[in-house]
Amino acid sequence: MEEMSNDDRQLMLSAIAQLEKAYAPYSQFHVGAAARLLNGEIFVGSNQENASYPLCMCGERVALYNAAANKPEIPIESLAITIKNQKSIIDKPVSPCGACRQVISEYEFRHNHKIRILLKSDGDEVYELDSVADILPLGFNGSFL
Ligand code: THU
Repeated sequence: MEEMSNDDRQLMLSAIAQLEKAYAPYSQFHVGAAARLLNGEIFVGSNQENASYPLCMCGERVALYNAAANKPEIPIESLAITIKNQKSIIDKPVSPCGACRQVISEYEFRHNHKIRILLKSDGDEVYELDSVADILPLGFNGSFL
């Protein structure tokens, strides 16, 4: 965390602040996310669960859809993601599920702009990825349609 730029630390702190807003009564696994747009604006999200389990929505997608619904014309530049497992300490950064990787990929494709991804769990270590392509190789996108 100490090695991050002020802007990135601020973004991660925005994601961390979302952890307590998560609605995760079934998994007790809280996810906070914060998307920063090219103009510097930040849109946040947290996971939202449902008694009908398949309806649960990941924190990453809540943040991305929040950003895209509010500022559809501005590319998303960075996405910070953090987690808090209420049942155990997780030191290693947790990376987004496959569905969220596909959604991140969609917004990269939409604006032809890579989205940096910052990952942090309980430990101080932060992983930084240049693009979702690093964790979604050979991805499917609109160029094939
Ligand atoms: N979850 C996320 O919010 N993001 C992920 O990338 C993986 C899983 C949420 C969904 C559910 O509320 C809880 O974590 C446990 O799967």
